Amino acid sequence: MNESDSAQSPKETEKDKNSRRAFLQKIGVGSVLLGAGATGFQSVRALIPDILYEASERFKIGHPAQISEGVTFIEDRRLYVFKEGKTFYAISGACTHLGCTVKYTKLNQPKDIEVDGLKKKINFEFHCPCHGSKFYADGTNFAGPAPRPLRWYKLEQSPDDGQLIVDLGEEVEQNFRLTV
Ligand code: FES
Repeated sequence: MNESDSAQSPKETEKDKNSRRAFLQKIGVGSVLLGAGATGFQSVRALIPDILYEASERFKIGHPAQISEGVTFIEDRRLYVFKEGKTFYAISGACTHLGCTVKYTKLNQPKDIEVDGLKKKINFEFHCPCHGSKFYADGTNFAGPAPRPLRWYKLEQSPDDGQLIVDLGEEVEQNFRLTV
């Protein structure tokens, strides 16, 4: 080792330390900025409505005249649409217990029921194949573990082309009817 080597070595070590310190400081500042940026993005994102999700909640099911009298099951939406002349309503086919699809079940003979003090005659029910829940024709749960009635969804008629629109984002009461 010559003299010049031993004289340079301490200077280089100090330089190395300085550059390492500067590097670590940059990483620290970068991490803070990255964290702040991510938090800011999440805060702003939370204020923007999820348009795609909302859009898929509303869909057209055809012209009133094209829909069959009685019941139609829209399988991919698990939705029962009922047509009685010019009147329409829609009931969810998703069981309110754990979400299995309930089956439309025609009764052998009409049945008298009473819901909230109102007497009705029904000729079908919805039965869940998973754990045995049963619902009256209006969706009211009356047997099995389902904790509440089937959901009813809003129907409206498109002002553009006259097709019926189902809105799965808007639940309605059991007395809802759309007359066209
Ligand atoms: S999912 Fe229908 S009874 Fe359990």
